[in-house]
Amino acid sequence: MAGNKTLTIIKPGAVKNRHIGGIFAKIEEAGFRVSAIKSLKLAPAEAEVFYSIHRDKPFFQELVDFMSSGPVVAAVLKKEDAVEDFRELIGSTDPAEAKEGTIRKLFAESKSHNAIHGSDSDENAENECNFFFSKKEYLEKH
Ligand code: CMP
Repeated sequence: MAGNKTLTIIKPGAVKNRHIGGIFAKIEEAGFRVSAIKSLKLAPAEAEVFYSIHRDKPFFQELVDFMSSGPVVAAVLKKEDAVEDFRELIGSTDPAEAKEGTIRKLFAESKSHNAIHGSDSDENAENECNFFFSKKEYLEKH
């Protein structure tokens, strides 16, 4: 059975370009509940841990540098089939390939500065939520 939560990060570029409100409007309009939310600046070492599955990719250092370059907004989102539905809402990794109306089509600058992260599996969603949030930080019963 598909899980009911996913982890999102509004990336530094979208925060800097004042898209926090616009992006969360799209998220809530699409039926997701914000279950936990915070702003923070990732240390490079924290970004390395978070993206460790990409450690061997050629873009890893660029990704770590970007994700630790400024504040981000992390949130746990709840909805039935959260992971799959959220990936549909944010669109393709590369905004040039993203469908009209998706968050990346609307707000992303490029493939590397693509506005928003969404977990890619229920297992990763669980790990990523625990990376950013402790139990007491949830807005609702957890
Ligand atoms: P995200 O979904 O947060 O997870 C990994 C990130 O790596 C991805 O978004 C992109 O921003 C980034 N990424 C993926 N492919 C490339 C690439 N070819 N060049 C630079 N960054 C990339």
